[in-house]
Amino acid sequence: MKSTLTPTVIKKTSARTRSSRRSPRLAIKGGIKAVPEGAIKPWPPIDAIDREMVLASLNGGRHAFGPNCDAFQKEFAEWNGNRHAITTNSGTAALHMGLVACDCGTGAEVIVTAYSWSSSATCIMQHNCIPVFVDIDFDTMNINVDKIEAAITPKTKAIIVVHLHGLAVNMEKVMAVARKHGLKVIEDACQSHGAKFNGKKVGTLGHCGAFSFNQNKNLCSGEGGMFVTDDEEMLAKAQSLWSFGENRTPSEKRDYHVYAMGWMYRNNDLTAAFGRAQLTKLDRYLAVQKANARLLTGQLRDVPGLILPVEPKDHEHCWYNYTIRFDMKALGHERDAKAFRDKIIQAMQAEGVQTGVWQNFILPAMTVFQAKNAYGKSCPWNCPHAQAVDYSVHQYPMAQKHCDAHTGMTTPLRAPNGPEAVALTAQGIRKVMENLDQLYY
Ligand SMILES: Cc1ncc(COP(=O)(O)O)c(C=O)c1O
Repeated sequence: MKSTLTPTVIKKTSARTRSSRRSPRLAIKGGIKAVPEGAIKPWPPIDAIDREMVLASLNGGRHAFGPNCDAFQKEFAEWNGNRHAITTNSGTAALHMGLVACDCGTGAEVIVTAYSWSSSATCIMQHNCIPVFVDIDFDTMNINVDKIEAAITPKTKAIIVVHLHGLAVNMEKVMAVARKHGLKVIEDACQSHGAKFNGKKVGTLGHCGAFSFNQNKNLCSGEGGMFVTDDEEMLAKAQSLWSFGENRTPSEKRDYHVYAMGWMYRNNDLTAAFGRAQLTKLDRYLAVQKANARLLTGQLRDVPGLILPVEPKDHEHCWYNYTIRFDMKALGHERDAKAFRDKIIQAMQAEGVQTGVWQNFILPAMTVFQAKNAYGKSCPWNCPHAQAVDYSVHQYPMAQKHCDAHTGMTTPLRAPNGPEAVALTAQGIRKVMENLDQLYY
């Protein structure tokens, strides 16, 4: 099928094709794949430490909240530089605990980025609070820190900063705004284990933080998460939500009394054992990931039509997700960016490049927000304590531009993959981008 390709691109690509007799046929058109089957190793690598620790938990007889849970909390807190950590069954649970730790009550407004995983924002409604979205900064893909202050109202209680794809938000600016307005800051560090800002690890920069240990995360335990804070009082509040509203952990002498509205967010011993085993290797894995990302950037720098991810001064990226944007303006596809992006990704995937679309919608465009559909009858938006918020999507142009033009990859950069996997991935990307003309017939 003929496409609506703009004249600029036809001219550019066909000129290049004419000048090169070696122009390879794309795999999607029947050519040979750039990345052979099996060249990219899956994540996470499992070795004897994982097997031993999980098996020991299995044989240990305390499979609910057991000794591995206690140990995992201590070890993770030590690794990250926090005074306290609570192991949870997901990152979302840890985020919800953050809302409670920050005293966000019914009708309170919580500021969050317009582009993230859904639960960075839905965790706010879980505590009957109201998300207020702020557009992203296109270059960093994170919340635009210069736009946060304008979103603050007398109802604002907290800011959730998402360190997206492994790049920390500029926390100096966020904390200055928070101090000025008396707000709490929850770090969604679910994607950013080991990322740093001004030499400090994420999860230590705000008032509390949440990590995820889901399958695809830098630290994988299948599922799971961790709430972190340095504040005793916040710890106690988060803990009250975590285990049925009781105020003691299962390792302490429980009185089986419910003191507050609580959920069941505890982790279990087998998962914690897996997490502990992976934690022993995390620094090594992160070093591989960072080296791979540097290599990939070097190899993609001169590929036409790409906008590569940045690592601004004072930031140490952990490269959880290496996200590229296609320069739709240069490619002549600003108007049909999403459709063209999908075509390019299909071609890359056919080459064996393990890349995809991470989030296909900006958060405010999702039905739950557009329909204000949380607890029925539009609660919490219509609660007597609430004030009106507007989720018109035109307020988030940078998030939309990013959303329509991105592709991201995780596994090719993860250990045990190394320079060879990176080179093949780069070749696959280059091959497609240098032969886009083949996508039009
Ligand atoms: C930015 C972000 N926040 C929150 C979450 C939720 O983590 P979990 O899946 O462990 O609940 C995720 C993970 O998917 C995430 O990527």
